[in-house]
Amino acid sequence: MVRIVGLGAYAPPDRLSNRDFERFMDTNDEWIRSRSGIRYRHISPPEVLTSDLATEAASKALMRAGLSPKDVDMVIVATSSPDTLTPSTACVTAAKLGIGKVPCFDISAACPGFLYGLEIGSGLLRTGNYRYVLVIGVEAGTKFIDWSDRGTAVLFGDGAGAAILTEDDSGYGILSTYLQGDGRLGELLKIEVGTAYPPGSWGVRMRGREVFRNAVVQMGDAAITALRRAGMEPEELDWLVPHQANLRIIEATRERLGLPPEKVYVNIQEYGNTSAASIPLAMDEMIERGLLKEGHNVLAVSFGAGFTWASALIRWG
Ligand code: UT7
Repeated sequence: MVRIVGLGAYAPPDRLSNRDFERFMDTNDEWIRSRSGIRYRHISPPEVLTSDLATEAASKALMRAGLSPKDVDMVIVATSSPDTLTPSTACVTAAKLGIGKVPCFDISAACPGFLYGLEIGSGLLRTGNYRYVLVIGVEAGTKFIDWSDRGTAVLFGDGAGAAILTEDDSGYGILSTYLQGDGRLGELLKIEVGTAYPPGSWGVRMRGREVFRNAVVQMGDAAITALRRAGMEPEELDWLVPHQANLRIIEATRERLGLPPEKVYVNIQEYGNTSAASIPLAMDEMIERGLLKEGHNVLAVSFGAGFTWASALIRWG
């Protein structure tokens, strides 16, 4: 089975509170908290790049795994906010870490990107050509924010999370996964940067209410599918680790699974929506707080632009 042997995360220290937004935008703390659950989001300064966040998170994951950069055989970065289109943020991060010559590439799968990365990394491990694969979910998405759009500006934050995967017979690891996507609804949530948009028109655009409706359905479906694929019932779960985009979406997913609130990890209040970083950022906090224990059944589930959605059921250890 493919196992996570080390996991780490990083968020830049500077953060913006809801009150900070009140000073330059027609919004208020009450609206943001009641509609989304967000209180703070961490923001990277201009000189700190996506690859810098990724490097910090990966260093911590390597430390937790007891490995050195030279042990890594492949780097996969899931991000919607790369340093540059080429080279990939995976290549830049590998160089910053001192990993040396290994295959490196980015994947663009929005918020579920880290879960897509786990599936891709697992598949590549099974070729037998690699021993340790580094999968990173990272965003410096606040660099693309249109600060005049109150419907998106208050929602997003920066961060990174990284996992080292290997295949062994410990009995711990990724029990089941589920990836899905539907490009027909892509218009509802976009980062408008690329050949379709003239320079200077960058921004995150979202039709929030429609995204919300789809997220509620697909997060629940993804959670149930991963459980079914592993032959597990929701009651057997120790943790649900949902993508942190909106507290009400998290709550709807919890209810769909019939889980008590204490089995659902929530840190949206501190980080906002960090897209591909959201799940490993939450798992890292759970490790720090001693909440993730050996043998725990952990279900991670996410939904995002594309649309894409995904889940992974992990027996932690
Ligand atoms: O990570 C990828 C997936 N992303 C998501 O899953 C996000 C999904 N969507 C959401 O989380 C929610 O739709 C939002 C939090 C973005 C918005 O909550 P909502 O309850 O769907 O509000 P709304 O978009 O329907 O807007 C309600 C009102 C509007 O005013 P009117 O038209 O009713 O007069 C907005 O203009 O709230 C207004 N509004 C704001 N008011 C104060 C929108 N943004 C703000 C704001 N402050 N920041």
